[in-house]
Amino acid sequence: MDPQVLEDGRVRLRPTSVGDLAMARGLFTDPGFYEHWDGAPKADAEIVEKYLGARRPGVECFFVEVDGSVVGFTQYHAADDGDQGGGMDLVLLPQARGQGIGTAVVRLLVGHIQRTLLWCRITVDPEVDNERGVTFWSRVGFVRTRLVDGDERPPYWLMERRSHPI
Ligand SMILES: CC(C)(COP(=O)(O)OP(=O)(O)OC[C@H]1O[C@@H](n2cnc3c(N)ncnc32)[C@H](O)[C@@H]1OP(=O)(O)O)[C@@H](O)C(=O)NCCC(=O)NCCS
Repeated sequence: MDPQVLEDGRVRLRPTSVGDLAMARGLFTDPGFYEHWDGAPKADAEIVEKYLGARRPGVECFFVEVDGSVVGFTQYHAADDGDQGGGMDLVLLPQARGQGIGTAVVRLLVGHIQRTLLWCRITVDPEVDNERGVTFWSRVGFVRTRLVDGDERPPYWLMERRSHPI
């Protein structure tokens, strides 16, 4: 199925494509963005390989647009454990935070996933130190299921949202 634009009022999720390298580079080399997305700026080759549609349909990536400007990035990815589920990630630029945009993004993306993929669970993995992130995911319906420590990353919460209307 072709990726589709998802929108609700001011907030629009636009699927990325190969022509979007300059726009994506602007996000993935901005410290306010990448501090929450792997912690370092990304080279063009990795952006093209991972974030501009090449991993479709297992991974779907979207720019978050508000009033026509790109203010963040979100993606969902199917789990490879054969279960009916997967994970999502979301980072907004600092100036776009705290205005309800993240809540609108989750509502759009979770609604789309539930309608089209019929997943019964969606997971997120905020770092324990990211209290704002953990609070946010709780507010939009995710519950902490496991603390993961000793991994390659700093400790993080595995949080899960089971299928129910958003
Ligand atoms: C986390 C993030 C996606 C939330 O999106 P947002 O648009 O800022 O969140 P919203 O405005 O929709 O707020 C929803 C709830 O999240 C929590 N929240 C949002 N910003 C917060 C802040 N600065 N401090 C504490 N809680 C906050 C609140 O509970 C809020 O509900 P309320 O407004 O009723 O109090 C966004 O702030 C962001 O990109 N942060 C940096 C990246 C990140 O942490 N991503 C998640 C990592 S897994």
